[in-house]
Amino acid sequence: MEPRRPADSAAEMLQVVLPNDTNPLGNALGGTIMHWIDLVAAIAAYRHSHRPVVTVSMDRLDFRAPIRLGHIVHLKAKLHYVGRTSMEVGVDVFAEDPQTGDQQQTSSALITYVALNDAGHPTAVPPLILTTDDERALFDAARRRRKERGLSTAAS
Ligand SMILES: CC(C)(COP(=O)(O)OP(=O)(O)OC[C@H]1O[C@@H](n2cnc3c(N)ncnc32)[C@H](O)[C@@H]1OP(=O)(O)O)[C@@H](O)C(=O)NCCC(=O)NCCS
Repeated sequence: MEPRRPADSAAEMLQVVLPNDTNPLGNALGGTIMHWIDLVAAIAAYRHSHRPVVTVSMDRLDFRAPIRLGHIVHLKAKLHYVGRTSMEVGVDVFAEDPQTGDQQQTSSALITYVALNDAGHPTAVPPLILTTDDERALFDAARRRRKERGLSTAAS
C-alpha cells in the first residue's frame, strides 16, 4: 500500500443554509452541520483508503458560533491519524456572510472511520506521510487520545 500525505485525501465541501436546514431562530441546525461534517470527513477517509468506510466514533464537536440562514458553509477535512484500519479525520467549519464576504470559523470536529473489505470487515489502510510540524503534532495528539481510551496505536 502506497503511503499518502494528508493533502492527497483532503476534502472540501460548500453548502448554503436553506430554510429547511434552520431552527426557529433562523440558525443552521446542529444535526445538519453534523451530517455535512460526517460527509466531508468520510470523503477524505474514502480517498485515503480507497475502501468504503464507516464512522466508528466522533471524539469532539464544538459549535462556537451560529450560522445564519443564507450563509455559505465551508467544510474542510483532512486526515490527522492513521492506525491499522482506522483513520482520524479533523474537520474545520467556516461560515461566510455572502453579503460581506466575512468568514469565521464556527466549528471543529474529530471523527474516526474504519475501512472495510469486501466482506465488510476492517481492512488495513495506507500509512500517512507526515511532512510538516503541524501534521506531526496532529498525529501525536490523536495517538495520545487513542492511548487514553485504551485503543491500539499500532500502524498497518
Ligand atoms: C467499525 C466496526 C466495523 C469495527 O469493528 P470492530 O470489531 O470493533 O473491529 P476492530 O476491533 O478490529 O477495530 C477496528 C478499528 O476500529 C478502531 N475502533 C474501534 N472502536 C473505536 C472507537 N470507539 N473509537 C475509535 N476507534 C475505534 C479500533 O481501534 C481499530 O483501529 P486500528 O485497526 O486502526 O487499530 C464496527 O464497530 C461497526 O460496524 N460499527 C458500526 C459502524 C456504523 O454503522 N457506523 C455508522 C454508519 S457509517
